[in-house]
Amino acid sequence: MAEQGQHYFSAVPRAASAGDTVHLRLPDVELDLRTDTGVFSHARLDPGTRILLEHAPPPAVRGDILDLGCGYGPIALTLATRRKRLPVWAVDVNERALGLVRANAAAAGLGNVTACLPDEVPADIRFGTIYSNPPIRVGKAALHAMLRHWLSLLRDDGTAYLVVQKHLGSDSLAKWLAGQGFPTTRLTSQRGYRILEVLAAPDSGTKHQTATE
Ligand SMILES: C[S@@+](CC[C@H](N)C(=O)[O-])C[C@H]1O[C@@H](n2cnc3c(N)ncnc32)[C@H](O)[C@@H]1O
Repeated sequence: MAEQGQHYFSAVPRAASAGDTVHLRLPDVELDLRTDTGVFSHARLDPGTRILLEHAPPPAVRGDILDLGCGYGPIALTLATRRKRLPVWAVDVNERALGLVRANAAAAGLGNVTACLPDEVPADIRFGTIYSNPPIRVGKAALHAMLRHWLSLLRDDGTAYLVVQKHLGSDSLAKWLAGQGFPTTRLTSQRGYRILEVLAAPDSGTKHQTATE
């Protein structure tokens, strides 16, 4: 989606609001999620997101959970359902997306979801598990800066799962992550998408373990 300088990662999308619903059906989770124009994949569950939700391991039982680049919230709300006792942070730069996540969490009765802008996340937080269908289209420099920042907030025993299309550079991203000191392996490859498993960098300075359960 990129019309007249507008992208799904615009802070305040100009596209006129036209609400829709995505029916999310997974073996263990069913949710009806409100979506809207100006938000990534608003008409259907993105296939990469489905692969992440179906094939990545469930979150660790300890530590806050992050959905990096949450859109209307399919990942955050699935994780919040799978781990009702853990805090789930749904972070995005798109304010329309954040409003949808808040409405979707309220409708699903999920009080453990906080949807907010990147700068609103407490600086001293450490995550047990990070999931992301990252915004590859923001460009390499912005993507790399974003991943370096959030992955350095993993607990020492934390893990991140990223879904990236092979033709959008999943393999070179995996190499770059490993080069940055984040042990990275390809967990699975499904229909042109890779799930990358990324561990905390041994010297990332993530020494403050927060026991949130
Ligand atoms: C590929 S979409 C995935 C959306 C949603 N997780 C899904 O699966 O439908 C990536 C998301 O990252 C967001 N994004 C772009 N730049 C960002 C940044 N610097 N920090 C956080 N999120 C960002 C975009 O607005 C977009 O919603």
